Amino acid sequence: MTQAESTDLLIIGSGIAGLTVALEAADHADVLILTKADPWDSASNRAQGGVAAAVGPDDSPERHLQDTMDAGAGLCHQDAVDVCVREGPEAIRWVESQGVSFCRDKDGIRDLGREGGHRRRRILHVKDMTGKELVRVLLEQARAHPRITIRSGWMAVDLITRVRLGLKDHQDRCLGAYAMDMATGSILPIRAGVTVLATGGAGKVYLYTTNSDIATGDGVAMAWRAGATIANMEFYQFHPTCLHHAASPPFLISEAVRGEGGQLILKGGERFMHRYHEMAELAPRDVVARAIDGELKRTGDPCAYLDVTHLDGGFLESRFPSIFEHCQSLGLDIRTEPVPVVPAAHYLCGGVQTDHNGWTGMNGLYAAGETACTGLHGANRLASNSLLEGLVFGRRTAQDALKYIQARALPDHALPPWHTGFATDPEEAVVVSQNWHEIRRFMWNYLGIVRSDMRIHRALRRLMIVREEIRADYWSFILTPALIELRNLADIAYLVLEMASMRKESRGLHYNVDYPDRNDEHWQHDTVLRRKPKPYRK
Ligand code: SIN
Repeated sequence: MTQAESTDLLIIGSGIAGLTVALEAADHADVLILTKADPWDSASNRAQGGVAAAVGPDDSPERHLQDTMDAGAGLCHQDAVDVCVREGPEAIRWVESQGVSFCRDKDGIRDLGREGGHRRRRILHVKDMTGKELVRVLLEQARAHPRITIRSGWMAVDLITRVRLGLKDHQDRCLGAYAMDMATGSILPIRAGVTVLATGGAGKVYLYTTNSDIATGDGVAMAWRAGATIANMEFYQFHPTCLHHAASPPFLISEAVRGEGGQLILKGGERFMHRYHEMAELAPRDVVARAIDGELKRTGDPCAYLDVTHLDGGFLESRFPSIFEHCQSLGLDIRTEPVPVVPAAHYLCGGVQTDHNGWTGMNGLYAAGETACTGLHGANRLASNSLLEGLVFGRRTAQDALKYIQARALPDHALPPWHTGFATDPEEAVVVSQNWHEIRRFMWNYLGIVRSDMRIHRALRRLMIVREEIRADYWSFILTPALIELRNLADIAYLVLEMASMRKESRGLHYNVDYPDRNDEHWQHDTVLRRKPKPYRK
């Protein structure tokens, strides 16, 4: 792509949500998917556990709804949950029709796993590589579709909207996006009938995360700058069990391991989860992560342990092959020794606020998957509801976007080229990396599992300085992918901090020691922020 391009549907991100939107729409529209990394590199690809759906003989959408609502600590939107759990089984059939084979037992009955917060076995899985298999199949289908184009190594820089172009409007419209060819650094406008943000989460805003390096919250940050409504960013979910090993990159130990009987213990072998919740190791994720955090602070130990040594070794090897092999490669035999684990930032429950069809409230702009805040997760996502959300709401997003595209011509406004002004080449990359480290460290130390007003305000003060520097660098230097991501991360940090400072209670994933109780009278509602978009610099 060397000059401005047009498409019916521009999808930014190639995880399960983005691919689902693409496949559902592509028989009726031209689809362009942009992804800044290899198309398979996404949070979806790393999701081990599976997809939750009420397909078991002892299960029902009502039971799934209840577990989702209980985990969400009073903030789930019941109508959104209802849509998701009712359409879940059909979404499973759809993804199976694309070619995904979930595990079945020798009689051909689906093998359903269990995870925290689920009172029934309802996790469809492909061993411990469910996300990887879904991405593989959907990507293969997308690559084979004549109306889907996938461009990797292309990074969205900012949304193009009428208001940001300086066109006065009573109702803003998204016209596409500026995107950078990361190989050359050139930035081009892409005109689109509809733009879908499906860039996943923002785990890189924290020092330790289960997410890959690309999780910099690009979609949420771009939507925020464009004036879309952002909700519930204070609810950042920490996965309780990330492998703690000096020689390993961040590696998830799936919650499904606890679903099969894995026990959390301390260094001396003592179990502790029953002191925190009646469901013990299978309590909702916020409870388990906070319990581990509390135990580590109490004991001063660097990690807790997940013990599966009482389970059959052959079963562990065949049910969790990638966990088994990864640990084995580090010299750790999960059949005979407990696995050291710590909580790590995992999933953004908030995001760009949408209706049940992925619409953000701005004409032509949709969001799907982890980037969106549909109301499904409330204050704490139920395990394995995220892949389901990507499928159910991804399909709905495509259907609604198609209606929008069919009703309106492609926008014909002139899209000005990206304006570099008097920007020069950045002289020192350390300017970016220093700010990046600062943000991730103060977010981890001050805005982690346990918060306080004092910590939130300290972090906000530091962020103001860092943002000021980033703003200056952004307009003085020729843009690089690192600078674009840093700016996005700083916006994400701001949104998390600002919403955390607004919520004067503790609920779900937001625990503030200054307000340790849940306060339904004043706080049983979403936290929302929206800014007035500023025109681009000319
Ligand atoms: C896991 O396998 O524990 C992760 C799945 C999820 O985040 O829902």
